[in-house]
Amino acid sequence: MLAVAIIGSGMAGPVLALSLHKHSIPCVLFELRTPDSQQGGNIALAPNALRVLDHLGIYDRLRLLGYNYEELGFTNGSGMILGKLWNGSQKVYNFPALRIHRSIVKEELIRECEKKGIEIRWGKKCTGVEEEREGSAVVRFEDGETVEAQFVVGADGIHSKIRPFMFPGTDPIFSGLMGVMGTVMVQNLNSLCETHGLDLPCMIFGAKGSFAIMPASFGGNELGYFATLEAKDRGRTGWQMLEKNQAELKEMLHERFLPEKNGFPVLVKELVEKTASETLTSWPFFSVPHLHSWSSPNKRIFVIGDAAHAIPPTGGQGAAMAFEDAETLAYVLARVLASDFNANHLSDIVSKWEHHRIDRIVKVVNFTTKNGDLRKSSPHYYEQAAKEWIIWATFKFMGPEGGAHWMYAYNAESVLGALA
Ligand SMILES: Cc1cc2nc3c(=O)[nH]c(=O)nc-3n(C[C@H](O)[C@H](O)[C@H](O)COP(=O)(O)OP(=O)(O)OC[C@H]3O[C@@H](n4cnc5c(N)ncnc54)[C@H](O)[C@@H]3O)c2cc1C
Ligand SMILES: *[C@@H]1O[C@H](CO)[C@@H](O)[C@H](O)[C@H]1NC(C)=O
Ligand SMILES: *[C@@H]1O[C@H](CO)[C@@H](O)[C@H](O)[C@H]1NC(C)=O
Ligand SMILES: *[C@@H]1O[C@H](CO)[C@@H](O)[C@H](O)[C@H]1NC(C)=O
Repeated sequence: MLAVAIIGSGMAGPVLALSLHKHSIPCVLFELRTPDSQQGGNIALAPNALRVLDHLGIYDRLRLLGYNYEELGFTNGSGMILGKLWNGSQKVYNFPALRIHRSIVKEELIRECEKKGIEIRWGKKCTGVEEEREGSAVVRFEDGETVEAQFVVGADGIHSKIRPFMFPGTDPIFSGLMGVMGTVMVQNLNSLCETHGLDLPCMIFGAKGSFAIMPASFGGNELGYFATLEAKDRGRTGWQMLEKNQAELKEMLHERFLPEKNGFPVLVKELVEKTASETLTSWPFFSVPHLHSWSSPNKRIFVIGDAAHAIPPTGGQGAAMAFEDAETLAYVLARVLASDFNANHLSDIVSKWEHHRIDRIVKVVNFTTKNGDLRKSSPHYYEQAAKEWIIWATFKFMGPEGGAHWMYAYNAESVLGALA
């Protein structure tokens, strides 16, 4: 029988597999996609995400494949700087932040799994948990195969097929916001000065929504942007169709960011106009109800990453939380799979891990939700002024750490203290 079956090879899955490998625990990854399927967009990895990758020995390679930065500038709608916050800091956290293609992160994780001899079974769509037994669990796949393992981990994202077994009725709910992302090469900008006076990376808080501009390549010659827009729900297939409908995405950006009266800086208009359609991608933000536990009754099945919690995108912490969940769970599984482990303690050690992680998720969600409210468009002048004041006050009273020290300084190894 397999020791650990991991469903999903996105962000959390391979990190769990590699962390287990460090403890010499065998596992197999089951992934519905094929190895060549591409996913667009860039992600920002904060120090706490990079610390996990460093523990796996792949940070030094990834660092050279994206844009390293420390300060993120906040500006009002016309590009006037309100202040700067750290998204990372070599000095304070040992890591600057890294803006990088999502697909590069995934590729590197998979490459590392292959190097370590970890088996990945592609094109395997899990349809759910068949049953949980005393000392194992069984999952079923669309092709009819069933797999039994001592532990099953659902790392299969927000639309998880593992979560409903434990927590029925926790379908994701659309949050009312979506992201639209695109990239433009700096040399394609029709510019007098490359960035038209904006200090990059920066986040522009306009009355008509927010627009982040962030270099995404090591040398900074590729500029990515991330627009946050309010939107109506389209249903799951509707969202999948929109992701491929670049004309409609372009239209949404044009409507919002081009009109003179909306007052966005000239660089925003340039970026929107010069975007090559094939770089456009979208991301609807879903939330799942808060879970008080991430495990099954017999503690043989777990969920981690987006399958366990949806982190609002506004904190740049979705992948980071998935990584931390994975590394900390590996310590738990290493403990319980050790030959001298007393099975009577299984429930106890699992709930210590859950408390440690869920307490942190609650804090992170709280922190990032406040960020998200600022990104919504403001219907009235007064609301916009209040928003700008809040941002200004944050810098004034909290300094460049912006109250995020506890979030970025976290080390997944600290779970060992909680398990003791
Ligand atoms: C466009 C975009 C931009 C983002 N930007 C940021 C950012 O800047 N910073 C940040 O920290 N986070 C960001 N996020 C969020 C971050 O990507 C997620 O939080 C993170 O990927 C969660 O990791 P995960 O492994 O839990 O889930 P996923 O990465 O979604 O991986 C789940 C995997 O499971 C597979 N799968 C799903 N169902 C099944 C099944 N039934 N059987 C088998 N396999 C299955 C999927 O194909 C996928 O490979 C972004 C997300 C998107 C989409
Ligand atoms: C941005 O701030 C500057 C300086 O305070 C101000 O002149 C400008 O009108 C502001 N722009 C917007 C869109 O709020
Ligand atoms: C950078 O900081 C801002 C403000 O706290 C936040 O909105 C953004 O999501 C952060 N990004 C990362 C990668 O931490
Ligand atoms: C969430 O944020 C609010 C407002 O800042 C604060 O009062 C509350 O204690 C926070 N909750 C947690 C669990 O951190």
